This record gives sequence, C-alpha cells and structure tokens, in this order.
Amino acid sequence: MKTFLVTGAVGQIGSELTIALRKKYGESSVIATDIKMPSDPELRDSGPFEFLDCLDPHHITRVMQIHKTDTIFHLAAILSAVGEIKPNMAWQVNMNGLYNILEAARQYKCSLFVPSSIGAFGRSTPLDNTPQDTIQRPDTMYGVTKVAGELLCDYYFKRFGLDTRGVRFPGLISHKTEPGGGTTDYAVEIFYEALKHRKYTCYLRQDTSLDMMYMPDALNAMINLMEADPANLVHHNAFNVTAMNFTPADLAKEIQKHIPEFEIDYEIDPVRQEIADSWPNYMDDSAARKEWGWNPSYLIETVTADMLDQLSQRLKLPHEQKSR
Ligand code: NAD
Ligand code: SER
Repeated sequence: MKTFLVTGAVGQIGSELTIALRKKYGESSVIATDIKMPSDPELRDSGPFEFLDCLDPHHITRVMQIHKTDTIFHLAAILSAVGEIKPNMAWQVNMNGLYNILEAARQYKCSLFVPSSIGAFGRSTPLDNTPQDTIQRPDTMYGVTKVAGELLCDYYFKRFGLDTRGVRFPGLISHKTEPGGGTTDYAVEIFYEALKHRKYTCYLRQDTSLDMMYMPDALNAMINLMEADPANLVHHNAFNVTAMNFTPADLAKEIQKHIPEFEIDYEIDPVRQEIADSWPNYMDDSAARKEWGWNPSYLIETVTADMLDQLSQRLKLPHEQKSR
C-alpha cells in the first residue's frame, strides 16, 4: 500500500489534493501536513494530520519514518505577491524548504511531486505559445525560487536517480480554499464579489491575458503525472500545463451571462500588474500532452458556471442573489 505525505496541505491546492488522494488510495494512506491547522472539517476529520514546518529537516524525516512515506506532494510555498512583500521568507520556504524535502526524499527513496509555475518565466521569455524549453529569467523572488527549484529537482533526478516530477501550473481557480497571495487570485475573488456585491474592482488591467486552470484539472494533472509510466517521460519536472487563457474583461463578460447586472472596474496594483505582464499570455503544453496524456476538461464557460453554482450553494446566499 502506498503512503503519501502532502506538505502545505491546508492551502488552495493541498486542501483539495489531500481529499482526492484519500478518496483514491484510502483515508489513512494520506498524511496531511502544514504549519496551519486545518479548519475545514472534511480535511481535518478524513485522515491523519501532522503539524510540520518544512524548514525543520529533522521533523520532516521523523514524520516520514513514522508514517513510512513513499510519495511526497510538496506544496508548502510562498506565492508571488506575498513573495514580493516578504522576499526573505519566500527564499527560506521555497528554497530551503524544498532542499529539506529533496534530501528527505533521497534518504527514504520517495517519489516527489513539486509544482513550478508560470512565474518561472519572465519578460525575455517568448510570451505567446511559450515553449517547454526556453529562456527563464524571472524578475520576482517567487520566479527565481521556481526556476532554481526546477533545476534542483532535475539535478536530484540526474545525480541521485530520485523520481522527481512536476508541472508549471498557471493560475488556479477553485471554490474550496481561497488562494494564498498570488498574482492570479483575481480570477477567484471575482466570483465571490459577483455573488456577494454584483461588483468587482480588479487589480489587473482589463486586457491582461494569463493562462488559467480549474482545480479538478489541476488535481488530475498531479495524480496522472505521478502515475505515468517513467519510460514515456522525456522531461520529468516543470511540464507546461494549461487549460485556457483569458483576460479580466473576458471573465467579467462570461459572468455577466449568468449575472447581467454584474459590473467590473479597475484599480491597478502596479506590483501585481508588473508581475502579470512578465508572465506568458499562453503556454505551449504539447510536451505534457505527448509524454503523459495531459488533457484538461474545463474551459472558461464551464468553470464560470460551476464556480457560481458551487459558491452560491456554499455561501448560502439568499435565492435572489444566486446566479441565474
Ligand atoms: P497556498 O498559499 O494556498 O498554500 C501553501 C501552504 O503552505 C499554506 O497552507 C501554508 O500554511 C503552507 N506553508 C507555508 N510555509 C510553510 C512551511 N514553512 N512549512 C510547511 N507549510 C508551509 O499555495 P497553493 O496555491 O496551494 O500552492 C501550492 C504550490 O503550487 C506552490 O508551490 C505554488 O507555487 C504552486 N502553484 C500554485 C498556483 C496557484 O494558482 N494556486 C499556481 C502555480 C503554482
Ligand atoms: N497563482 C500563482 C501566483 O499568482 C502562480 O504561480 O502566484
């Protein structure tokens, strides 16, 4: 029986990945860990939780030894916008935390999933149809740690034969756990505000095109890549994956199909706009499609309908405020 360890399990991705893994592999086989206690009852009560700081290498190996871990999903990180406010913390968590996890995975011969990001690209990268292998000179601390993390994972694969795998995620849209301080968070916030106030003030320009993905596709990406036959993998880490690309104006228009009175206006945050302008407009994800069958299901229309439906149920909004 496989035993999984998820770091950063209380975050936007971890809170859903942990549940998906528990459903697939059994509740007791997935050890959720974080420096925050889970408040969501489903996450808290469906299996084991350990308080684990990735900056503490001895605690990592102790938890792995106790639970006989063989696969790690390393999601603990500081995201792009918070990383620009706290670059020192972003370096500590994203680099030293990853190094500690790589060393522990090497010691216990674990398979390891590490997500990279569109943030690993920068202004000198071709921003349209961004190739799998291309120039990566990001301007943010987040991006610097993501490029270095990709290289470190490749190094551990080549040097020590460690089974490291990963993808470059775009902005992720989900309704269970709110995002943790990224540049793409507007694409989640907008749904809460549309349902609560019929109005949203966006911090990115209306024509800012970015790659996006709905959480069910992101969960499939992680699980399918980790289950892929290694013989078919030319790349191992940092596969470009995307499902759709749109601008804030496109998303607002789609929401208006459900809530006609919804309004959007713009108050640009120069820091996040600068970051978004340095990220791809859309990526080429053909390597992921070819090597392990990446094939997303959700587009802007289906994500919008599902987000409004799920959130209006969860927020228990009065009927007249529900999407129509
Ligand atoms: P998040 O901010 O929602 O969650 C991160 C979690 O890590 C938090 O629960 C936090 O408490 C935990 N954490 C922080 N410091 C820690 C430490 N020292 N030890 C242990 N846990 C710690 O982030 P997320 O959106 O779930 O992202 C997970 C990973 O996916 C990150 O590597 C991120 O860069 C990557 N990613 C996310 C997105 C996205 O849109 N969400 C896109 C691209 C890549
Ligand atoms: N959603 C993430 C961020 O904006 C992309 O890595 O930071």
